Amino acid sequence: MTTYFSDVCVGSIACRLEKKEGGAVSIYIMILGVWAPYRRLGIGTKLLKHVLNLSEKQNNISDIYLHVLTNNEDAIA
Ligand SMILES: CC(C)(COP(=O)(O)OP(=O)(O)OC[C@H]1O[C@@H](n2cnc3c(N)ncnc32)[C@H](O)[C@@H]1OP(=O)(O)O)[C@@H](O)C(=O)NCCC(=O)NCCS
Repeated sequence: MTTYFSDVCVGSIACRLEKKEGGAVSIYIMILGVWAPYRRLGIGTKLLKHVLNLSEKQNNISDIYLHVLTNNEDAIA
């Protein structure tokens, strides 16, 4: 999913579905980014909620995860 403001791409999220043994599926968030001037406006939240809403419609999602550097305090917050 990509978010646009006046035709400018300001945020994006991309996920991969990972099938696990037993039929469960993990969602790995590969990309989550909001262009710096547009941060703290709720766009990152909107992107994450979009993925959460989609995952709720499936009944086989066991977990959703992403990687983040330990010094990336913005993302951890
Ligand atoms: C992480 C990122 C996607 C957040 O996007 P965003 O649009 O700014 O997030 P939101 O506006 O929805 O913020 C949601 C909440 O996260 C927290 N938060 C976000 N940025 C923060 C910061 N710099 N410092 C402290 N808390 C922060 C706050 O609790 C915020 O809620 P609030 O604004 O009501 O206080 C964005 O900072 C980014 O693109 N960072 C660079 C890329 C990255 O690190 N991606 C994640 C690694 S996979």
